[in-house]
Amino acid sequence: RSVPISKTSISTMTNDEENAGTVKKQLSKLFEQSLRITVPSESDVEPLIAACAPKFGDYQCNNAMGLWSRIKNKKDNGFKGPPTIGKVIMENLPPTEMIEKCTLAGPGWIAKNIQKMLIIGIETWAPRLPIKRAVVDFSSPNIAKEMHVGHLRSTIIGDTLARMLEFSNVDVLRRNHVGDWGTQFGMLIEFLFDKFPNWEHASAQAIGDLQEFYKASKKRFDEDPAFKGRAQQAVVRLQGGETSYRRAWAQICEISRNEFNKVYQRLGVQLEEKGESFYNPYIPGVIEQLSNQGLVEESQGARVIHIEGVNIPLIVVKSDGGYNYASTDMAALWYRLNEEKAEWIIYVTDVGQQQHFEMVFSAAKLAGWLPANDNMYPKASHVGFGLVLGEDGKRFRTRNTEVVRLVDLLDEAKNRSKSVLIERGKAAEWTEQELEHTAEAVGYGAVKYADLKNNRLTNYTFNFDQMLNDKGNTAVYLLYAHARICSIIRKSGKDIDELKKTGVLTLDHDDERGLGLHLLQFSEVVEEACTNLLPNVLCEYLYNLSENFTKFYSNCQVVGSAEETSRLLLCEATAVVMRKCFHLLGITPVYKI
Ligand code: ARG
Repeated sequence: RSVPISKTSISTMTNDEENAGTVKKQLSKLFEQSLRITVPSESDVEPLIAACAPKFGDYQCNNAMGLWSRIKNKKDNGFKGPPTIGKVIMENLPPTEMIEKCTLAGPGWIAKNIQKMLIIGIETWAPRLPIKRAVVDFSSPNIAKEMHVGHLRSTIIGDTLARMLEFSNVDVLRRNHVGDWGTQFGMLIEFLFDKFPNWEHASAQAIGDLQEFYKASKKRFDEDPAFKGRAQQAVVRLQGGETSYRRAWAQICEISRNEFNKVYQRLGVQLEEKGESFYNPYIPGVIEQLSNQGLVEESQGARVIHIEGVNIPLIVVKSDGGYNYASTDMAALWYRLNEEKAEWIIYVTDVGQQQHFEMVFSAAKLAGWLPANDNMYPKASHVGFGLVLGEDGKRFRTRNTEVVRLVDLLDEAKNRSKSVLIERGKAAEWTEQELEHTAEAVGYGAVKYADLKNNRLTNYTFNFDQMLNDKGNTAVYLLYAHARICSIIRKSGKDIDELKKTGVLTLDHDDERGLGLHLLQFSEVVEEACTNLLPNVLCEYLYNLSENFTKFYSNCQVVGSAEETSRLLLCEATAVVMRKCFHLLGITPVYKI
């Protein structure tokens, strides 16, 4: 009833240059012109154009409902309700070849769509993206060095981006580009040989904390020239592939990997490790290729690629002949494009590495690996994020230790949420397992959501009390809101699966329609969050969904009302969409609280 749908058959738009982005933009311009004429008083209203399910047309315009709620209290606004607005928007469209047919959605269109989603599943609302395969390079800590809160941010943001792309039917290669190669390994291996002559049989526990191990070996390296000499030799022997050196290297990596996995396991994050060492064999070939293209120049003994507009060159071979971070990234990009056939390669690191990636991408464009036009695929994108700050406004640290042990941090979030649950008497009500499960869902969910809800480029302040607050825009509030909806449905005593098939969803009340329309916008929001690589867009949607639900629930009686069946279906649809949002954000939903 309330949404004008432009069933636009866009017959003239078949050539390749006119991709979906530009179609949407052009339609937005047309609808914007119409909106300005239709309701001149609301000149700040942006056109809401989205792709729609194929059987309803190609694109839809979602402005009528929102406009109606803005003007309905203004006297003599000239409209009777959303449908009349929709009709006039259509009439005021400027003449164009682009739109073959434009129709107004009939009554119940929103409702029907939602009911269809309930029956078929939320996958029918998955956005359609123009790519088949993507690489998301995220987390990527360094062996034997600390895995810090920056890596935690990368892990959380990268996982969400991967989940959103996977939901959109993109084949995602989740890459852990761990720093497992470099000169520090000579020192570590030599130190291992010295301290643990029996190292091949020494357990990880015996070797103990690798960060301490790293510090101690660095100290020795700086103080003992003979050791330093051996360490430098060790690098050569490792790179030459000598067995015992390779084995020692593998063992050191294994210890780190076990530590990283503890974090991934708590967060429920899947990653496939292809560390820097993996790309090492590809570097010479890639550099040769770039050299043959005339892109590599000599500069102060090093070999570099000059990039227009940047005052420093990209060093691809160091003056000592060794390779570096950039050499590896060039080889990795080449591999991902040519061997893995990825169409979109996404790198998630702190903003401090932005220039590095911009230079790598520019070099790839010069080499013709990537198109010069950033709107075309294959494409490489850097997803930068800001710092994690402590209460003091400085870089986040815990208490008196210099670094934050991520495992401890996550355990603390869980323990705090567990204490709250126990205070609320849940220990008596629930099994120990339920208590643990909920404490984890809430605790880890809180850490993730606090990170994701901000625009990633801004620094964010880590605060347990804030993120575990059950009011405001927090995971706790949202998880509770979801659990409450589930309990409304449970307490109705109705079989919701049966209702989905036999009941009919109608949206007569303004707040029912408002909630219904918001549900329907899920797909376009996920699409926007994917396209712009902004998880906070999805968080905002989820929070508004919860607010819309609250409004509906306080104005519309559900259980025991004449509209009970329809309203229970609306509750269920809200719960389904909320759960999908949680899933995309890597948060485990809870069903009772
Ligand atoms: N290991 C790097 C760090 O800790 C991040 C690697 C990011 N990925 C890449 N392909 N460079 O800062």
